[in-house]
Amino acid sequence: MSAMSTDDRVLYLLGSAAPPVLDLVPVIERAQADGWDVCLGLTPTAADWLTDSMSDLEQLTGHPIRHRHRRPGESDPWPPATVALLAPATFNTMNSWALGLTSSWPVAFAAEAIGKGIPLVTMPCVNQALCAHPQFESTIATLRGAGVTVLLGPGSFEPNPPGQGQPAAYPWLVALNAVREAVGE
Ligand SMILES: Cc1cc2nc3c(=O)[nH]c(=O)nc-3n(C[C@H](O)[C@H](O)[C@H](O)COP(=O)(O)O)c2cc1C
Repeated sequence: MSAMSTDDRVLYLLGSAAPPVLDLVPVIERAQADGWDVCLGLTPTAADWLTDSMSDLEQLTGHPIRHRHRRPGESDPWPPATVALLAPATFNTMNSWALGLTSSWPVAFAAEAIGKGIPLVTMPCVNQALCAHPQFESTIATLRGAGVTVLLGPGSFEPNPPGQGQPAAYPWLVALNAVREAVGE
C-alpha cells in the first residue's frame, strides 16, 4: 500500500459516473504528492464503470473504496475527512445533493457534511444542454449558498455541447488548488 500516513490531512475524493472518473490514478497520485491521505468514494454507477480497477485503486489509496451505504453495525473504514472533493459531479449527483436525495453514498456523505461544517468542493461535469435544465441553476445557487465551492464557469469547468465532452481536459488541478484553498492553505 502506498498511502501516506498524513493523519491530519485526509481528502475524500468522491466521484460520480462521468468520463473523467475513468482516469483517477494521476489525480490521486497528484493529491498524494500534495500530502493528502486520499480516500476514494464512488457512486454505484461510477463503481460499476470502474469494476476492473477497484483493487488497484484501493491499493493506491490504502483504503477501501466506499460505494454503498454501510449496513447497520458496520464500522466506518475511513479516517475523518479534512475536506471533500466531489468530482466529477454528474447532473444527477449535483441535483440529488442540492435536493437532499441521498440514495447514493457519496451524495449522502456530502449532504451531511454541509451540516457538519466539513469544507466541500465540487466540480460538475455536465453538458450545456443539461445546464439549461431549470433545476440546475437552482442547484448551483443552493450549494453555493450552503458554503460549497462549486467550480463551474471561466477558469474552472466550462460545459461543452452534448457529445463534445473532453474528459482529458477536465481541470483537476483547479479542483486540487480549490481543495487547498478550502482548508486555508
Ligand atoms: C459514456 C457516458 C458518459 C456520461 N457522461 C455524463 C456526464 O458527463 N455528465 C452527466 O451528468 N452524466 C453523464 N452520463 C450519465 C450518468 O452516468 C447517469 O446519469 C448516471 O445515472 C449518473 O449516476 P451518478 O450521479 O449516481 O453517478 C454519462 C453516461 C454514459 C454512459
